[in-house]
Amino acid sequence: MPSPEAANRPKIIAGNWKLNPPRARGLELFGEVARRVADTPAPKFYGPGGIPDVWILPPSPFLGMFHELTRGGGVPARIGIGAQDISPSDFGAHTGETGGGLLFDFGCGIALTGHSERREAGETDAIIAIKTLAADRAGIIPLLCVGESEAERDSGDMLAVVERQLAAVVGVLPTDRPLWIAYEPVWAIGTGRTATPEQVVEVHRSIRDSLTRGGRDGARTPILYGGSVKAANAVSLLAEAEIDGALVGGASLDADSFLAIVEAAGLGVSTGG
Ligand code: 13P
Repeated sequence: MPSPEAANRPKIIAGNWKLNPPRARGLELFGEVARRVADTPAPKFYGPGGIPDVWILPPSPFLGMFHELTRGGGVPARIGIGAQDISPSDFGAHTGETGGGLLFDFGCGIALTGHSERREAGETDAIIAIKTLAADRAGIIPLLCVGESEAERDSGDMLAVVERQLAAVVGVLPTDRPLWIAYEPVWAIGTGRTATPEQVVEVHRSIRDSLTRGGRDGARTPILYGGSVKAANAVSLLAEAEIDGALVGGASLDADSFLAIVEAAGLGVSTGG
């Protein structure tokens, strides 16, 4: 049974555009999402003053443009922009990196750390922990991604793997600093194979327990699910009180699909095109 407090956690939908789309299409997509997400106040549950509940995480060249659009006032305050990655370093001689200070200046409210595509590119738990601390230092909420491979699920190591990935961060980030989690099983990412609500709930409960054991407020931590979330499966996933939202890849590149997921989360969308 979810606690009454758990049932009150507002849903959050984040679109991870990954390395997509080209410039003109990205501007069009952002504009359409901004136009159609209802302009209601952001919920205050996860932080004072209201924290956006619809997030766009574009490739970094878009960030400056989207920041200007949000500052210009034409974008509902409920829409936030975020980064897909963050440098371990704040500033300095680090060619090719983008640090938290700049990401913050260009309007990023959240940053992914530990996405499986970056883990596959060689990022270790230790690097991910350092990047998570860098986000926090910059005043950006880290959205830590965890999740098992298919082989790890099949061998029964799933919860231990997720626990290890979490522990690397929970062990170093002070417990009073914000931390959001995305559970993204690797076998469900970009494959069209969505985890069932029951599979997701099992892991989310385990994550929440680990957070609480680590001294964090598990009941007030948003835990999102990611992995082939589409309009068609979003309703049953998001109906679970344990699933606090979705981190959406492919379906976030189409305004209708993304907005249908926003709507499935109970967040307002206008029907006009
Ligand atoms: P897909 O929704 O394309 O499976 O991607 C999920 C993801 O990796 C989001 O970060």
